[in-house]
Amino acid sequence: MKRLLTGIKPTGDLTIGNYIGAILPLIKRQEEYDDIFLFVADLHAITIYQDPEELKEKIKTFIGLYLACGVDPNKVTIYIQSENEYIPAISWLLECNTYYGEASRMIQFKEKSKENTNFTIGLLTYPILMAADILYCDSEYVPVGIDQKQHVEIARDIAIRFNSKYGETFKLPNPIIEKSGTKIKDLKDPSKKMSKSSISPNGVISLFDTYETVTKKIMGATTDNDMLVKYDEENKPGISNLLNIASVMSGKTTEELENEFKESNYGVFKKYVAEITASKIEEINKKYLELSKENIITDILDKGARKSRELAKEKYEEMKKKMGLFYER
Ligand code: TYM
Repeated sequence: MKRLLTGIKPTGDLTIGNYIGAILPLIKRQEEYDDIFLFVADLHAITIYQDPEELKEKIKTFIGLYLACGVDPNKVTIYIQSENEYIPAISWLLECNTYYGEASRMIQFKEKSKENTNFTIGLLTYPILMAADILYCDSEYVPVGIDQKQHVEIARDIAIRFNSKYGETFKLPNPIIEKSGTKIKDLKDPSKKMSKSSISPNGVISLFDTYETVTKKIMGATTDNDMLVKYDEENKPGISNLLNIASVMSGKTTEELENEFKESNYGVFKKYVAEITASKIEEINKKYLELSKENIITDILDKGARKSRELAKEKYEEMKKKMGLFYER
């Protein structure tokens, strides 16, 4: 059984970074894998305070957007993380098999705990909850952007440790990281990741942006002065970022695009990137509106929660038994 899984936190608006780093790699594999899981990581969102009303709305929006992006509910199990109560229970069993040292060495923890020193314990245990998400269903393939690679790796380390202490229990996960989608950068500051929670709205393309807004943002993207459309992440991060976006949106390689635009100035190239990106987002928006008139989401989520809970319950019972957490009657 070839199982693939990924999740997205419902904070801010879904960006083209999330689309390119996680959703598109999953969609591309819909035909190839036996079993695919996609969820809304709402328990991960609350490591930082979320307004309850807004969070509730975001969860709903994210499910609609997954479908609007082209996730096929007949092939993909779609669910809300918090509807599976076995996941936090499994997470606790895994926490007791994770060292403080390894959790506190996670880059995301180090960065976020520096940004705000009054952080919750959830920020530290975040990757272990993520390990529970991945391991409960023996997902061997996890499409993520580069920022989450380390978290998939710690999930793997925890699985290896658990297996060696208590006997073979988990399959080992591997991150799937696409060449052009590793890290889509902020359009205004291409040294930073494009992030849902960014404070510079012109640097971030949301899946809800209009055609005009997307065009304006891409036309205003920070580039450099030497006017050569060439992939060079170190010296030309802005142009390399646009080449990555264009490559994913057009299906062409960055080399093919370099060749196509070798005689063009940045204005012409940006116009091309803007057109293909804005058209794609417009298509997603149209689909989202159509879907919001239908009433299919409840059934999809009920089915998803059922399947995910069944698998997680089985794994939880197996873990408890192996750890001696049961009373033989
Ligand atoms: P989150 O919500 O921050 O991001 C969701 C996914 O989008 C990817 N991503 C990007 N990829 C390329 N360029 C970008 N600028 C960019 N921004 C975000 C992320 O790498 C991620 O793949 N902890 C996870 C959610 C999660 C999860 C899981 C993922 C919870 N449990 C289990 C996989 C498996 C997160 O916060 O992602």
